[in-house]
Amino acid sequence: MGGLARLEYRGYDSAGVAVLNNGKLETEKRAGKLANLRSALENRPRSADGIGIGHTRWATHGAPNDVNAHPHVDNHNRVAVIHNGIIENFASLRLELEERGCKFLSETDTEVASHLLSEELKDRGDGDLAAAMRGICHRLEGAFTLVAMSVDDPELVVAARRNSPLVVGRGKGENFLASDVAAFIAHTRDAIELGQDQVVELRPDSVTVTDYDGTPVPVREYHVDWDASAAEKGGYDYFMLKEIAEQPRAVADTLLGRVAVDGTLTLDEMRLAPEELRDINKIVIIACGTSYHAGLIAKYAIEHWCRIPCEVEVASEFRYRDPILDRQTMVIAISQSGESMDTLMAVRYAREQRARVLAICNVNGSTIPRESDGVLYTHAGPEVGVAATKTFLTQLIACYLVGLYLAQVRNLKFGDEVNAVIEQLSGMPEQVERVLSMMEPMRDLARSLSGANTVLFLGRHVGYPVAMEGALKLKELAYMHAEAFAAGELKHGSIALIEEGVPVVVVVPSREGRSVLHDKIVSNIQEIRARGARTIVIAEEGDEKVRPYADTLIEIPAVPTLLQPIVATVPMQVFASELALAKGNDVDQPRNLAKSVTVE
Ligand code: F6R
Repeated sequence: MGGLARLEYRGYDSAGVAVLNNGKLETEKRAGKLANLRSALENRPRSADGIGIGHTRWATHGAPNDVNAHPHVDNHNRVAVIHNGIIENFASLRLELEERGCKFLSETDTEVASHLLSEELKDRGDGDLAAAMRGICHRLEGAFTLVAMSVDDPELVVAARRNSPLVVGRGKGENFLASDVAAFIAHTRDAIELGQDQVVELRPDSVTVTDYDGTPVPVREYHVDWDASAAEKGGYDYFMLKEIAEQPRAVADTLLGRVAVDGTLTLDEMRLAPEELRDINKIVIIACGTSYHAGLIAKYAIEHWCRIPCEVEVASEFRYRDPILDRQTMVIAISQSGESMDTLMAVRYAREQRARVLAICNVNGSTIPRESDGVLYTHAGPEVGVAATKTFLTQLIACYLVGLYLAQVRNLKFGDEVNAVIEQLSGMPEQVERVLSMMEPMRDLARSLSGANTVLFLGRHVGYPVAMEGALKLKELAYMHAEAFAAGELKHGSIALIEEGVPVVVVVPSREGRSVLHDKIVSNIQEIRARGARTIVIAEEGDEKVRPYADTLIEIPAVPTLLQPIVATVPMQVFASELALAKGNDVDQPRNLAKSVTVE
């Protein structure tokens, strides 16, 4: 249950466990959060022989009710299975199994795996669960992590993976399997990465990994560099609030060891040689959600510093539009989890087209970095709150580092500017610390707006993706209608939405060297205010030009324009989380969402 609690952020609409109790398979499953399963188990306590499997679900096929919760068992109650992902050919497999006499109880795709495994064991007649698992994997299409146990072998848990995460934890006389190391971090920090299309046999004293044909495969073992306390709330009511507060440290950790005193950058893990980087003539960034917003900001910086054309695309659209890629294209895949299926599929497509792929990721050994040519880890530590916060800020830092490194390697004429930015980047942890200490007015404001129906967000230049991030955070946490616009675009239609009292959050560009942009947004604020908007203006300290037009002025530290998103995003996070809390919402586990989206 402790392990499941640590994984609940990945899916929380139902949960279940199966254990062997005196050689008999017993399952307990409940719709809703883990607390429901916990009380069901407390009402009917039972012991377990030594192995068990458990699951928290994010529904794909079938409503989140007790029956559809995992584990699923076969009709003889001899095999129990849990599953992440989607078995795409489940309908034809279900028909075939029904013809063989299997009775289905749930609406899930997973249940085919439990019947299939049971039938395979019956056909084999040797009780070899691992061999049966390998046998059925050849028949399954789609994405899956499957974990199974059977009454025939009370010391064995078998798992298989394709396109969905799975990691082994190695203990002493005990071993673990989970989709994330957080589940077993209280027991061991020694882990093994599992590769694509592999099957693992787990016993108390052994771990055997093979491919689907049963040939043993070499594995990569690693030590997790954070401990259980990093995955706990540490005195905060919510993980999200702790993770917002951790951002100065997280930003410093992303920079750590990468910037030398003389400003030279060391990014060896990129595994892309300087000659390869000099060869690049186009960059394409692919990502989803908040990570996509990091990509949008990166475009401004990379194009300005490196003079390489940079496109940014939502990963789920990318491979379906026949994009133009070749060996001189560098694809940057941004994904905090390293598991988003949309991004993974885009990475695979890009590599098929021979593009060089660099992953920016927070989770060591996850699938996207494993399948990329190079990786830059963000080292933000575990992020448990479903809404991305510290991983976003650290993704920005990683993107800036890539841009600056490319500019250095390519010896660009902007050398002096680049060196100055590298120095300013080193001061960012302190600036984030400062902006956090300035957030009280934002908290007060957010609480006063909990009755609003809609909030609009405006920005220009890098402030536009910051506005998009603000709107996304508000939607996912406060369940309110929120929308972001490029401030200059508003007058082309959307300004019709402005009426008396509508709150509009405006991100004002820094004044450094871009006074034209600054003047323009001051005019935009006046335009919406004249039409009744309640203006909430996020501007750098000492910006007297905007003050007269701000119903509420939220000040942030003055930093160079391209780095402004690092500080300007923090008020957005505080605004959304505070407003959601005022509405009584759970900011760690917002409705309908899950931390890593491993389905397309
Ligand atoms: C929003 C959020 C999501 C993720 C998106 C991509 O707060 O967290 O929008 O950013 O699902 O996830 P990763 O970065 O894991 O690929």
